[in-house]
Amino acid sequence: MKLFDVYPLQPVTIAQAKGAWVWDEQGNKYLDMYGGHAVISVGHTHPHYVKRLTEQLGKIGFYSNSVHLGIQEDLTEILGRISGKPHFQLFLCNSGAEANENALKLASFHTGRKKILAFRNAFHGRTSLVVAATDNPKIAAPVNQTDHVIFAPFNDEAVLDAVFSEQGEEIAAVIVEGIQGVGGIHEASVSFLKKIRSLCDAWGAVYIADGIQCGYGRTGKFFSHDYSGTEADIYTTAKGMGNGFPIGGVWIGPKFTPWHGMLGTTFGGNPLACAAALAVAEVMEAESLMTNSSEMGSYLTDRLKTRTEIPEIRGRGLMIGIDLPADKAGLRKKLLHEGRVFTGEAKPNVVRLLPSLALTRAEADHFLEKFHEAYQS
Ligand SMILES: Cc1ncc(COP(=O)(O)O)c(C=O)c1O
Repeated sequence: MKLFDVYPLQPVTIAQAKGAWVWDEQGNKYLDMYGGHAVISVGHTHPHYVKRLTEQLGKIGFYSNSVHLGIQEDLTEILGRISGKPHFQLFLCNSGAEANENALKLASFHTGRKKILAFRNAFHGRTSLVVAATDNPKIAAPVNQTDHVIFAPFNDEAVLDAVFSEQGEEIAAVIVEGIQGVGGIHEASVSFLKKIRSLCDAWGAVYIADGIQCGYGRTGKFFSHDYSGTEADIYTTAKGMGNGFPIGGVWIGPKFTPWHGMLGTTFGGNPLACAAALAVAEVMEAESLMTNSSEMGSYLTDRLKTRTEIPEIRGRGLMIGIDLPADKAGLRKKLLHEGRVFTGEAKPNVVRLLPSLALTRAEADHFLEKFHEAYQS
């Protein structure tokens, strides 16, 4: 048997990792400014994370949601505190797509409606309804096509008003990333998010904040959507939540009432996944990682902006998009092979920085040095 070849792979085999660094099989050291796609939140192999997971594995790795699992409550308590959402309810699942599927389902249960409003350039996952709400027809199979999803332009309040005036009574939910990640690091404006909030209130629709890439402290606030000063009805998280251990969450506002059997999963919220997420939350709190993310993000962005020939540098905190000129298309490759720095990409020519929230000043300086070298060569 061989692997189903769906990933364009970097020609590097990573064998080991620590903090913001990874090593390949030959022992070469790389700075990880990609975090395995915004997943490594507290740093690779953080000692507290390794300890908590190892201890949990020694006690019990798995039991299903048919019994009381106290660690789920410990996790819910700390997440409510560090996110400023103690009044929310948490449903635990396994991935970002699954979190969004459940959020959309919940909105439809709650409103009795079928239509979802999503935005151009959005990415919400690869499973049934969320891939339909993702603006990339290439990754949606014929079976995923549905007339339940309406797409509107991102950050266009006039179109939003028009869509609601025509179809407001049918709209179950609006789903929006606070900062579009896969789409190239584009932030929703404060007034756009406020408009979504007020239209959802006026028409009885559910506002779903997809915080899977832009959330979990990466921008300096727990949810980047909260920079707008409004609160969503549902938030979704995954990526940074388990620092690499698969776990997702649906953060459900107080107006939703659960009933037994409404949502469910075999693996979601298992003790090992909760131990991983608990360790992440504890480290985030103890090491003030949201503050660090905000400070390191500004430090990097300010210094990158001194290179005035770069058309645009976007983002917040440690979610940064560097919009390169066309003649610098090979920069990411150079950074990897010559500078030994991992970065992410977005179309057409954006370098995405999504490092650990624990990135240090020295590591940021190392990145800047390698970036400038690669840019000049
Ligand atoms: C904003 C956003 N939503 C949802 C997802 C899907 O998450 P997962 O790959 O864990 O299913 C992603 C993944 O990149 C994402 O960036």
